[in-house]
Amino acid sequence: MLSIKEIDHEQFELCYELDSNTICLWTKNQWESEFKKRGVKVVALILKKEIIGVYVVHTIINEVQINYFSIKKRFRRKGYGSYLMNYLIEQCEKLNIEKLLLEVSETNSIAKVFYGKYNFLTVGRRKNYYKDGTDAVLKEKKLIK
Ligand SMILES: CC(C)(COP(=O)(O)OP(=O)(O)OC[C@H]1O[C@@H](n2cnc3c(N)ncnc32)[C@H](O)[C@@H]1OP(=O)(O)O)[C@@H](O)C(=O)NCCC(=O)NCCS
Repeated sequence: MLSIKEIDHEQFELCYELDSNTICLWTKNQWESEFKKRGVKVVALILKKEIIGVYVVHTIINEVQINYFSIKKRFRRKGYGSYLMNYLIEQCEKLNIEKLLLEVSETNSIAKVFYGKYNFLTVGRRKNYYKDGTDAVLKEKKLIK
């Protein structure tokens, strides 16, 4: 059975584990502190009690920044990423959020295709943003027409 729920601080180690096996974005300490930030929500996609995907969003007034979005490797290409993104968009629409923002590595072609499917448009670039020196591409999706 598939479900989506907001998770709390106690599960930060599970998030770290998922991240370590996917994009290795944050350390254990960074995950722990992410949960404590005001306006931050960590949401999990759960299949038969297993967390198979996670997103982290930070709401600032009427904008939502996607700080993290990932599906466990062995569950990719099965529609779970779309399921989670559709849920996120639906939640934002309910709250009258005006835009979604994110940063993605210029080398992450799969994520760029994925976000392109959701009409995220490139609005900027941060030079040498990631640990390996690659640039981040800034993308946004307007929700209110
Ligand atoms: C990006 C990511 C979340 C997609 O999740 P997913 O569950 O595999 O996505 P879906 O199966 O729902 O696929 C949705 C669309 O994404 C694109 N896509 C997904 N995987 C792809 C691949 N390997 N190659 C090309 N396009 C791909 C396709 O457009 C696909 O639509 P289609 O199936 O109609 O062709 C997943 O690959 C992931 O977790 N990547 C690592 C984390 C990451 O890079 N996050 C973003 C950093 S900001």
